[in-house]
Amino acid sequence: MTSISTTLTSTTQQRRPFVPDFFDRRLQRENTCSVKFDARKAVFGREDVIPLWVADMDFAAPAAVTQALEERARHPVYGYTLFPESLYASIVDWFRSRHGWTIERDWLLMAPGVVPSLHAAALAFAKEGEGVIIQPPVYPPFFSAIRKTGRVVIENPLEQVDGRYQMNLEHLEACAAREDARVLLLCSPHNPVGRVWTESELTAVLAIARRHNLVVLSDEIHCDLTYPDKPAHQVLARLAGDEDALVTAVAPSKTFNMPGLGLSALVVANAEHRKALKDVFDAMHMNQCNPFSIAGFEAGYRDGGQWLDELMVYLQGTRDFVMDYVEQHLPAIQVTEPEGTYLLWLDCRALEMDDSELKRFFVHQAGIGMNPGITFGEAGSGFMRMNIGCPRPVLQRALEQIRQAMASVSG
Ligand SMILES: Cc1ncc(COP(=O)(O)O)c(C=O)c1O
Repeated sequence: MTSISTTLTSTTQQRRPFVPDFFDRRLQRENTCSVKFDARKAVFGREDVIPLWVADMDFAAPAAVTQALEERARHPVYGYTLFPESLYASIVDWFRSRHGWTIERDWLLMAPGVVPSLHAAALAFAKEGEGVIIQPPVYPPFFSAIRKTGRVVIENPLEQVDGRYQMNLEHLEACAAREDARVLLLCSPHNPVGRVWTESELTAVLAIARRHNLVVLSDEIHCDLTYPDKPAHQVLARLAGDEDALVTAVAPSKTFNMPGLGLSALVVANAEHRKALKDVFDAMHMNQCNPFSIAGFEAGYRDGGQWLDELMVYLQGTRDFVMDYVEQHLPAIQVTEPEGTYLLWLDCRALEMDDSELKRFFVHQAGIGMNPGITFGEAGSGFMRMNIGCPRPVLQRALEQIRQAMASVSG
């Protein structure tokens, strides 16, 4: 097995992230216990598919993050660890400077991840058998967080208007008006369709939630990943008033490509709601923290800004490259142009394959591992989700493989 240290670019090179080809460089991730690479055989039945699935990127994290981890590792005692005040300050500073959102220190509750926070919100704000609204196609744990906690999924499917996904606000109002509806899990920006919700859409959501006493959990894990040529992300809580029941989940894990470090924060202005969430985590003794997560988290928010800006310029070029390629060479696929996230939502319905045929086609004929759209709910049937967070040459090869596979099917 190749050792991790020899497969990664040296730290010295990482410290100069803004060399022109930084994001084009291929880092070997095989044999690093990477889900995206090392679970291919288990998930796709083949270990040679080009992995364009699970949502992490193949880029080195900001050098400041690696340095902070190295520095922490240098102290050889890895004991029980506190969340330091400097960590909270890094969150407050990042959201003030990047999103114009003023968070008070006391509103912050550290959490072991955003998915655990979805579960915690279902447990804290709905009773068993009560309803939680989601808007599919949506990130699969939105479904499982509700089902596994014994709550009931209420679906308000997104609708496509002129090729752009929108929330069906009329139907959302009807869902919220149900006797059993207690919580809305909002995905903002929305995985997998890449929408960055506008101020007017978000204001409408708040008004509906207010009218029907819903608690809204706004999952804003992708909030920093918006394209420079698209409108900026709007933090829902910035538009809310004191009367709104709102929980915002944030994390630097997608932003700086370190989701394996597993830490997130909940921002909850209402003290009772904060306590309800804290009680859920305490009940499972999920209030420990990992010294490496803290080091990486804080370093990202403190020093990762320039890396992020460069990343989004690169991803924008990649997004345009993929969309142009698909338009020119893969006419049976329609791509929804994302406004945020490094995920592309491919409409493959014109291929006229059912969902298992579609998966088989991409895995066995094209040699590509993507997330089948059907795993995001019925509304995702006939779609595939492509992760473009990798060097552009990798995507070029993947697209060429899809083109050849399509030629062999139609020929
Ligand atoms: C919308 C959304 N929420 C949460 C997560 C995962 O969060 P965590 O790793 O903090 O549990 C993802 C990862 O893809 C995501 O897309």
